[in-house]
Formats: sequence, C-alpha cells, structure tokens
Amino acid sequence: MNTLWLPLLLSSVIWAEEQYFPQLPNATWDEARLYCQSCFKELTTITSRNVHFIVKNLSSDYWVGLRRRYNGTFPWTAWSNGDPVTYQNWYPGHPVPNKEKKLIPICPSTTESPLSTAITATSTPMITSPKMSTMFQTEKEEATCPILIDMLDCLNMTCYELESVMTTCNRTTVTPKTTTYNTTPEVTTFSTTFNPTTTQGATTEGTTTSNCIFEPEPDPEQYIEDACLVLLSFGMWKEDDCNKSLPYICYEERFFGHIYVSDVNTSAANLSWTEGPGAENISHYRVEIIEDNDQTFNQTFNQTFNQTFNQTFNQTDLFELIQNLTAGTLYRVQVFPVKCGRDLNPQNISFYTQPSDVQNLTVVSTTNISANLSWSEPEGNRHFYSVYIKCKSNKSIHDQVVKCPSEECTIEKLTPGYEYEFTVKAVVNETFGGVPSSASDYTKPSTVRNLKQSEDKYSTEIKASWDPPEGGHSGYHYCLTEVKHNQNCNDCSDATNSRSSSTTNNNITVCKNTTNKQITESGKSDGSKFCLCVQALTKNDTISGEMVPIPAYTLPKSVTLSLSPDYQAINASWTIDGKFEKFEVMIQTVPYTPAKPESTELLYYNFKDLKAGVHYSISVVTINGNLRSQPTNKSDYTRPKSPRNAKANATKNTIDVKWEAPAESSNALITYMVEYHTRFWNLSIKNVTTKTEISYTNLKPGTKYEFNVSVVAGNLASDPVPADANTEPDKRTLVLTMLCSSETPLHCNGTEAREDLFKKLKTEMNETFHDWVHWSLKFVDRKQKLGL
Ligand SMILES: *[C@@H]1O[C@H](CO)[C@@H](O)[C@H](O)[C@H]1NC(C)=O
Ligand SMILES: *[C@@H]1O[C@H](CO)[C@@H](O)[C@H](O)[C@H]1NC(C)=O
Ligand SMILES: *[C@@H]1O[C@H](CO)[C@@H](O)[C@H](O)[C@H]1NC(C)=O
Ligand SMILES: *[C@@H]1O[C@H](CO)[C@@H](O)[C@H](O)[C@H]1NC(C)=O
Ligand SMILES: *[C@@H]1O[C@H](CO)[C@@H](O)[C@H](O)[C@H]1NC(C)=O
Ligand SMILES: *[C@@H]1O[C@H](CO)[C@@H](O)[C@H](O)[C@H]1NC(C)=O
Ligand SMILES: *[C@@H]1O[C@H](CO)[C@@H](O)[C@H](O)[C@H]1NC(C)=O
Ligand SMILES: *[C@@H]1O[C@H](CO)[C@@H](O)[C@H](O)[C@H]1NC(C)=O
Ligand SMILES: *[C@@H]1O[C@H](CO)[C@@H](O)[C@H](O)[C@H]1NC(C)=O
Ligand SMILES: *[C@@H]1O[C@H](CO)[C@@H](O)[C@H](O)[C@H]1NC(C)=O
Ligand SMILES: *[C@@H]1O[C@H](CO)[C@@H](O)[C@H](O)[C@H]1NC(C)=O
Ligand SMILES: *[C@@H]1O[C@H](CO)[C@@H](O)[C@H](O)[C@H]1NC(C)=O
Repeated sequence: MNTLWLPLLLSSVIWAEEQYFPQLPNATWDEARLYCQSCFKELTTITSRNVHFIVKNLSSDYWVGLRRRYNGTFPWTAWSNGDPVTYQNWYPGHPVPNKEKKLIPICPSTTESPLSTAITATSTPMITSPKMSTMFQTEKEEATCPILIDMLDCLNMTCYELESVMTTCNRTTVTPKTTTYNTTPEVTTFSTTFNPTTTQGATTEGTTTSNCIFEPEPDPEQYIEDACLVLLSFGMWKEDDCNKSLPYICYEERFFGHIYVSDVNTSAANLSWTEGPGAENISHYRVEIIEDNDQTFNQTFNQTFNQTFNQTFNQTDLFELIQNLTAGTLYRVQVFPVKCGRDLNPQNISFYTQPSDVQNLTVVSTTNISANLSWSEPEGNRHFYSVYIKCKSNKSIHDQVVKCPSEECTIEKLTPGYEYEFTVKAVVNETFGGVPSSASDYTKPSTVRNLKQSEDKYSTEIKASWDPPEGGHSGYHYCLTEVKHNQNCNDCSDATNSRSSSTTNNNITVCKNTTNKQITESGKSDGSKFCLCVQALTKNDTISGEMVPIPAYTLPKSVTLSLSPDYQAINASWTIDGKFEKFEVMIQTVPYTPAKPESTELLYYNFKDLKAGVHYSISVVTINGNLRSQPTNKSDYTRPKSPRNAKANATKNTIDVKWEAPAESSNALITYMVEYHTRFWNLSIKNVTTKTEISYTNLKPGTKYEFNVSVVAGNLASDPVPADANTEPDKRTLVLTMLCSSETPLHCNGTEAREDLFKKLKTEMNETFHDWVHWSLKFVDRKQKLGL
C-alpha cells in the first residue's frame, strides 16, 4: 500500500494535526468514504490551509469528501465530515449546471446561469494557471457568453481560431459538420436532466434561434445529478459520477493519547494507555518495550547487554503488565493502536525500573573522621549509589547525602566518637532508588586535649586532668606505667600492649577506665617517672581513640647533705632514701647574687673556685620531672687562708696594724681576728674585724706589742700572721748602784770586772725583760754623774 503521509502543523488555527492518506485502489465514492470512516476519520476535506500540502504530491485524480447533496442539503455546501465549504477551486465550467443543451448557439448573445456566475466569482481568485487566465480575459473582452467559453474550451480553440474555421464554413456550405465538433452526443441524458432543473435557457434559446447556427451540443461536460468532487491532479476541482471508481484521499487527525506507568518495581511495571480514535476499528494495540542502551551511564555488566530484549505484545485491552525487566534500567515503551493493519501514531513513555536493593552493607573500617563502607553489587543497573548519613548520637549534626560511584565508598567529614547510620541505595535518574540497606557504626573518638599532671603534695600520688575530646565519647581509658627516668613517653604501645600482662620490662602498668576528666593514682613509689597514656572511648567503651602520652612524676624526697669544705672548694655529698631523676644544687653567699643552680644526677657535687674563708650556703633539691622536693640546706665556711703582709706601725701609745687579704679570698667577705699580746704586761686582747686594718690606742709606751692576724671562718682560723711593734717609750732612768764586795780590793774598780758586771747585768736584764719593754742599760761613772 502506497501511503502518503503529510503532517500538517497548524496549531494556531486547529489544535489537531491532520494527516492525509491517499488510497490508490479505485473505489466508488461511497466505498471510499466507508473505508475512510472505518480506517481513518473521513474522506479528506480541502481548505485553503491544507490545499498546498495535499496538491503537492498528487499523482492522479482522487475522490475527496464533497458531494453535491447529502440528506437534501443545499448543493455543494457541506463536506462529508460536516465542515462548511469555505474554499473552492472549480475547474472553469464546473460544476456543470443542470440545463438542456441541445444545440450550440454560435452568436455573441449570452445567457448566464446564476449558479455558474456564483462559482466563477468565488473561484476566480484561486485560478493560478496562466493559460486559463489569458483565455478567460480574452473571452471577457469580446463576449460574455459562458457557453461559448465552455465550447471553446471543449474545442480547444480560441475565439479567433473558431472565427477562421467559421470563415471556411462560409466559403463552402452552410451545412453543419457534426463530425468535427460533436464527439459524444448524449442528447437523451442531456434532455432528461435538463427538464427538471430550469426553464431559463428555453427563452434565451428561443430568442437567439433566428440569429444563431444551431448545432448539437459539442460540450462533453454534462450535468451529473449524483456528483461527487474529484480533486484533479493539478489541484482543481471537477465533479464526477459518484459511482465511478477512483483513488481517494482519507484523512485522520493525528492521535495523541496518554500512557501511564505504575507499580514499577525491579522487574515489572504496569502500563496503561488511552483508547485510540475509532476504537471499534482498532484491532489491537502493539506494545513495544525496548531496553535503552543509549544511557548516560556505563553498564557495568555486559551480561545486561546480552539480555537486552525487545518485548512486543499484541494487546486488546488498555493495559499490560510487563515482566522480566532488568532492575535499574531505562525502558522505552511505545504503544501503537493498530487500525486496519495500520499503525497509528504511537504513544511513548520512558521509565526506569527500580534498582535492586543493596545487600550486605558493612562498615569495613572507621577512623575518627571517616568510614569505609562496602556492599555487594545489586543485580541490574544503576547510575550511582546514594549514601544517607545520619548522626545518631548528636541530633544537631545535619544529615548529609553523598553519591558513591562504586560498591566501596569512603565517607568523609564525620565527627569523631559518634554513632552514624549509613543508608545505601542504588539510584537511577538522580532520585529513583532501590530498597535501601542500613548499617551503623561509631567513628573512633578523638584524642583528649590538654592532658597534664596536676600539682600534688604527696609523694606517692599522681594526679592528672584533661579536657574531653572533640566529638563524642563514653569514657576514658588510661594506663600508668612506671618507667626509667631515661625512658621517653612518646609512645603508648607498651602501655596498651601490657594491658593483659601487667608487667613488661619490669614496668608496672596500671590500666583503668574512668568517666571523670581527672584521676588520682596513689600507692606509687616516690620520685619515680611514669608514662600516663589516656584515650577516649565510645560505643559503651568498646571503641578507643588514639592514646595521648605524657610523662608523670611522683614527688621526690629530700636528701641528707654533708659538706666537706676545703680552701677554695666545698665537696657536697648526700644520700637519699628513695628514687629520683636528678638533683639541683645551688651555692650562695651573702654579698653575691646567687650562682645559677647546677644539675646533677650524681650523689655529690664539688663546688670549685670558691673563696677561702667564706660562709657558703648550699641547697640540694631532688628533681623529678616538674616536681621538686623540699630543699636540703647546709652552710659552712671554706677553710681560711692566712692574710698577707701584716704590718704594725707604732707611735707612743697607738699602733696601727694593717694587712692584706689572702689572695684566695680576694674580694670576698671574710673575717679577721687580730690578737695582740704583750708579754711584759702579760696582756692579750683579741679583736675581730672584717677590715684589713685595726688601730689600737691607749697602749703602754715602750712596750713591744706582738700581733697575730688570722682569718677566721666559723670555728676555723687560718695560720696567724705575726707582726709586732714597739710603742715609743716614755723613758725613766733607774740608777743601779753596784756594791762591789770582792776580796780583791779595787778589783771591782777594774775595767774588767766592771765590764763583766755590766755584761752579767745586761744578760740578767735581757733575760728578764727581753725586748718586751723598752729598756737600756748604760754604765755611768758615779762621780761623773754626781759631778753633773
Ligand atoms: C483506476 O481508475 C483509473 C481511471 O478510471 C485507471 O486509469 C486506473 O488504472 C485505475 N486503477 C486501478 C488500480 O484500477
Ligand atoms: C445525513 O443524515 C444522516 C441522518 O439524518 C446523518 O447521520 C448524516 O450525518 C447526514 N449526512 C451529512 C453529510 O450531513
Ligand atoms: C489543444 O490545442 C493545443 C494547440 O492548439 C494542442 O497543443 C493541445 O494538444 C490541444 N489539446 C487537446 C486536448 O487536444
Ligand atoms: C458569410 O456569408 C454571409 C452571407 O453570404 C456574409 O454576410 C458573412 O459576412 C460571411 N461571413 C464571413 C465570416 O465571411
Ligand atoms: C564510562 O566509562 C568510561 C571508562 O570506564 C569513563 O571514561 C566514562 O566517563 C564513563 N561514563 C559515564 C557516563 O560514567
Ligand atoms: C561488552 O560487549 C561488547 C560486545 O558484546 C564488547 O564490544 C565490549 O568490549 C564489552 N565490554 C566489556 C567491558 O566487556
Ligand atoms: C552474549 O550472547 C551471545 C549470543 O547471543 C553469546 O555468544 C555471548 O557469549 C554472550 N555474552 C555474554 C557476556 O554473556
Ligand atoms: C531492539 O529494538 C531496537 C530498536 O528497534 C533495535 O535497534 C535492537 O537491535 C533490537 N534489539 C534486539 C535484541 O532485537
Ligand atoms: C501481533 O499481531 C501481528 C498481526 O496482527 C502479528 O504479525 C504478530 O505476530 C503478533 N505478535 C504477537 C506477539 O502476537
Ligand atoms: C519471564 O521469565 C520467566 C522465567 O524466566 C518465564 O517463565 C516467563 O515466561 C517470562 N515472562 C515473560 C513475559 O517473558
Ligand atoms: C526522571 O526524573 C524526572 C524528575 O523526577 C522525571 O520527570 C522523569 O520522568 C524521570 N525520567 C524517567 C525516564 O523516569
Ligand atoms: C551476603 O553475604 C552472605 C554471607 O557472607 C553471602 O552468602 C551472600 O551471597 C552475600 N550476598 C550478596 C548479594 O553478595
């Protein structure tokens, strides 16, 4: 069947889109109409809007939907579908009016049929053929007889040609040549149809008979009572006998129905659709379902390509249940109403089947801010997976949704220590999801903050405190491990590993859970170092976060100190009854700003470069981490050194003693003791000074004073440095008269004896007075003396 399909879109004028279907098998007009009514809508109408589309592809003459009369209506006024005739394009002279034409009057006089005038007037603007218009114009100039025009047309002659032919006739005879003009003289039909219609032509005929040559009707066009419209191949109209067999053109408004998809699940869907036009002639609906592989997502299984099926059903009902679909796949459905074996315009719909449900969702691992999810790939297809993340522990954390391309997904930006519920579903078309699967787990808690040891006055306790971690937690776990002082607390692995066996490397580990933010651990040894590791817990204390280690210390004991001073050094040594990390030793003396503390891990310290004879205070503090024991203080003097260059300078009864500080004590504050002694008077006086000179007054003149200057330091004194001086004497003269009782007279007067005596006396004096007091022995002659 050759089907001409001419869609015409005229949305502004008529909402329906008409389609035209020329039918080539010949049929009478009634047969044609019946067929068009059953398999299409009607025989086509021709309007100014559709004429161009219809005429463009005509290959022969066709019946269209106009008949002279239906049901006694006015002729040629209504289309078979009931529309009024608003457009006409009659071939000139058509439709042939109903009148008797026995003879042709060849003369200039005219008669007009009112019908033909009306049609000419309406059809004139539509004439497009140039030949027609020129013919028409020449006729109009010379004659207005429409019959003549028809005749000329029939004869295929112009008026001039006819005139020349007529001249030839004039030359020969007046006898009419019927064979030349009259080819189909069906006079009987003509006359019978003539009589009932009109009598107008009779008078005209009568008046013109005398002037005209009467000949049988040469026009083959006859009035046809049961006339139907033929659309000529060039687009103009003629009427013809309705019983004639001709091809015909049917039309139909394009069908736009609706199709609905409901109850879509992973493998089936319910389709329903609206009834097609002319439902009684629709044999069935052909439902075609095509799996659409031209999708914007990648098919993960080639198997699904292979399973691609095109299901086709013949359905007489207006619904169909489609089964055996692949989950999460786009299907295109077309429903064609089939009418007379012809597909009407199909109704289309696309839908996605629901993706299959996600199974075996597991939270593979979590960190404090992320979670690794995994699930098994569901059957069928999907565009992506959507993961809905809900924080179950803290309602103020907003839910979020992330897209995951594959079956393993890492969810980021979580808050530590909270329980999250992850709901995963496969999704197509952005929002259409399968049955979701949920799994919950906790993120690891974060680390505790500001962990620090607190002050503590007891040497067997450790106190510590911290701030809670960011995010959630249910409690804390802490481990306290005693370690050696040289061991670092960088790493809590020892502590955590030794949770089961409480002693590792001889370290004593205590691990406990708590909900408080501070702890006090007692019963520890003093001066010890511990590693304190604290981690936050969540999920009822079953999930632990990262350990935070700090060193912690118990308060150490004080030492027992003993000092052994030397001249310029003090050796401090001590003992301690307990553990310690190190000691801080410090030495200070009065006039000086204290030296910096020194640190040692030994049990002694040798202070060097000290000044001799100076009082020093030494303190020793036991240090353990930040903790300091009570200081042990002890002071002592360095051993004194003797002063230098002591000198005494005497006047009559004063003596100034000066000396210099010992070199070992220069610039230091030391104490001197000056002792003077006079043997003669057997007098001793001690004075203590810090100066390097001393003056004695009110001394006895002429006496030898002996001084001892020494440096005193506590109970110690340096070797004294002597000095002496004699006060100036206040001289007295003592006369000793010697009585000589020698046996030998004048012996005493002898020089020898005298000198001997003097010598003895001097010795005697010296033994008695030494140089302790001023004395001088002189021998004087008495006479001489007296003589004075
Ligand atoms: C239809 O009729 C026309 C003229 O009446 C004729 O030329 C044509 O061959 C016919 N076609 C068929 C298919 O009978
Ligand atoms: C002719 O009359 C019948 C019955 O009255 C009606 O069904 C039919 O549509 C009419 N035909 C036209 C072309 O009006
Ligand atoms: C009409 O006449 C023209 C020339 O005068 C000729 O070409 C044409 O074939 C004729 N038509 C018919 C149907 O005789
Ligand atoms: C035909 O003959 C008549 C009379 O013989 C004459 O009046 C008329 O003019 C002629 N017509 C032509 C066209 O020669
Ligand atoms: C399909 O897969 C290819 C290669 O695996 C990838 O490059 C492309 O982006 C994917 N297309 C879509 C729409 O996912
Ligand atoms: C899927 O199958 C097609 C042909 O059936 C083949 O060309 C293509 O390489 C296959 N793709 C994969 C990923 O196996
Ligand atoms: C797809 O089907 C063809 C035959 O229909 C078969 O030869 C081929 O192995 C199938 N491929 C897969 C991946 O199933
Ligand atoms: C299904 O129909 C589509 C469109 O008609 C066609 O391209 C495709 O090859 C068909 N597939 C099968 C498996 O028949
Ligand atoms: C549907 O009907 C058409 C003709 O009516 C037939 O050719 C086709 O095989 C039928 N299809 C099914 C699936 O029944
Ligand atoms: C769907 O598949 C089942 C089993 O493979 C089969 O029995 C049934 O006929 C199929 N239905 C359709 C409509 O293809
Ligand atoms: C895809 O989703 C949009 C928005 O929900 C919807 O309008 C559209 O019909 C869907 N497409 C298919 C093929 O289901
Ligand atoms: C889910 O896990 C179970 C047990 O591990 C396994 O038997 C089952 O096949 C898995 N399901 C899917 C869809 O992989």
